[in-house]
Amino acid sequence: MRPNAIQIIKDEHLAISAVLYSLRYLVKNMRKGTAPNFPLLKAILDYIVSYPDRWHHPKEDKFLFAAVKRRTKDGDALIARLEREHQLGYPMVETLKLHLLAFQHGDDGARERFFEAAERYAELEWGHLQTEEEQLLPLAERVLTADDWKDIDAAFEENDNPLFGVKPKEEAEAMYQKILSLAPAPIGFGAQSGT
Ligand SMILES: [Fe+2]
Ligand SMILES: [Fe+2]
Repeated sequence: MRPNAIQIIKDEHLAISAVLYSLRYLVKNMRKGTAPNFPLLKAILDYIVSYPDRWHHPKEDKFLFAAVKRRTKDGDALIARLEREHQLGYPMVETLKLHLLAFQHGDDGARERFFEAAERYAELEWGHLQTEEEQLLPLAERVLTADDWKDIDAAFEENDNPLFGVKPKEEAEAMYQKILSLAPAPIGFGAQSGT
């Protein structure tokens, strides 16, 4: 039977991709002249800080990558790269938040700096999620035992488990709903912003 953690990780990747897509789509439209929707952009950055950065990537490091490293050396270079990308991602989101504030305050050049940083971040994360799905998860499925998966499953199931009090997934879904309510079609069902 397929480990539950694999499905949870893939589902989380889909949710993260949807948010990254929204971010890139909004930047593309702002470049063409659409007025910035600051509450929406802020909701997107809040989502990234609160869910992928807090619950997804750290659990990969601590449980999935660590288990694979214990079983084989074959993934060492790949895992080092993925860990580095996690470490690169956290400050990038903080920088994005600062660029967004400066953009909102109308600082010189801030608009362009935000666009470039957002595109760079979306590209890095996108490539990262893809590498995990195409290379890391298949390797993990090959080398990990049912016992290894028990701990990894438990760690990822915790994201969605009411017994733990905190329900990160519920919180993430609420934040995602907020993104949808603020974003105009085709992303969400919010009002169209002026051009
Ligand atoms: Fe990751
Ligand atoms: Fe991941």
